[in-house]
Amino acid sequence: MQNYNPEEAIQKAVREFGEHGGVAPSISRSSTFTVMDPRVMPEIFQGVRGPDKDGCYLYSRHFNPTVSVLARYLAAMEGTEYALCTASGMSAISCTLLQLCEHADHIISSDTIYGGTHALLEEMLPSMGITTTFVDVTDIRAVEKAIRPETRVIYAESIGNPTLKISDIPVLSRLAHEHHLTLVVDNTFSPIMITPGKLGADVVIHSLTKFINGASDAIAGVICCEKEFAYQLMDVHTGRLMLLGPTMDPRTAFDIIQRLPHLAIRIKAHGARALAIANRLEELGAPVTYPGLSSHPQHGLLKSMVNRGFGFGGMLTIDCGSRGCAEKLLDYLQNIERFGLIAVSLGYFDTLMSHSGSSTSSEITAEDQRRMGLSPGLVRMSIGFTGSLKNRLAQIERAVKKLGLTV
Ligand SMILES: Cc1ncc(COP(=O)(O)O)c(C=O)c1O
Repeated sequence: MQNYNPEEAIQKAVREFGEHGGVAPSISRSSTFTVMDPRVMPEIFQGVRGPDKDGCYLYSRHFNPTVSVLARYLAAMEGTEYALCTASGMSAISCTLLQLCEHADHIISSDTIYGGTHALLEEMLPSMGITTTFVDVTDIRAVEKAIRPETRVIYAESIGNPTLKISDIPVLSRLAHEHHLTLVVDNTFSPIMITPGKLGADVVIHSLTKFINGASDAIAGVICCEKEFAYQLMDVHTGRLMLLGPTMDPRTAFDIIQRLPHLAIRIKAHGARALAIANRLEELGAPVTYPGLSSHPQHGLLKSMVNRGFGFGGMLTIDCGSRGCAEKLLDYLQNIERFGLIAVSLGYFDTLMSHSGSSTSSEITAEDQRRMGLSPGLVRMSIGFTGSLKNRLAQIERAVKKLGLTV
């Protein structure tokens, strides 16, 4: 286990007070900022002055005071020099990859990633001349074999969506750096729990839409990285964030700032519930996958990477064998037991459940789903922490017994 404490790191970051000493920060909604001296304007455009240099703001697609506060807290959490917030997790991913890769460049990606990212790599980027080889990143030899002279990036998710396959970040980082590649890690499934930057990742991305916001009422993302890369992304001539423009609204930033202080508490609660439910399912002989279970083949790897004291995450899967059985389980759990909600996404305080193959991984062909280990009957669950644990255990037990998923 790692001793880094992201909860403490957020708390130690420079605190932003609101106007009049408000305990909550103010929302700075201005799209543009007054420059008192006309000679200052060109200096801002030349990067001589900016929010980090003289606290000088220009225009909110560039930098915004409230969005910058959230970015500062998230950089502290991930232990990176800098962070840039974006309008969605997908824009954080696409702008990062477009900044790192140009026409004729190559990416090596984990084969078990979010369906939208898979579509970006497999279907959209090739039209711009950027190609991707998908590999099982748990097979480090396969990753090494896929490296070519034109490779620029290794891309992985700390905990892969939806198979929950664990990426060995220190090993991927060593390989990437030996070959002068950038390791980009999507940490959406494991904020606070895993700190990829401390394990060797160069760029850490989150969909803030999920656990970090925690209320399923906002779409947002972040890129946590070195300052130099952040400034490349914001460059007025070639910055992909600056020019493609997926800007976070300051009101969204404010909402997430207000929820960040209890992220660690929520992550522990999600993890404790998921572990208890996974244990009960395992006792019943149900086909559960949860990397927090000591029987999970990658439990040792996960244990070596997690920060001590935050659990093993809120995500688990049940392999129902077929899509029909998965749909029956979802129907029963939502409409009879009221165990959770049939909905995509994750990180909500209530349990969210979906059939991955026909929803968030439906962009991936059936053949590729099979290759990445995504079974046709896989139900992905983001375990919430509402209701009593006793009742939740009874509900899931009745459901798996009803569907004949026990031995
Ligand atoms: C692992 C992962 N990364 C990125 C995304 C995309 O995030 P957003 O919907 O905020 O664009 C998702 C969405 O489900 C995801 O699961």
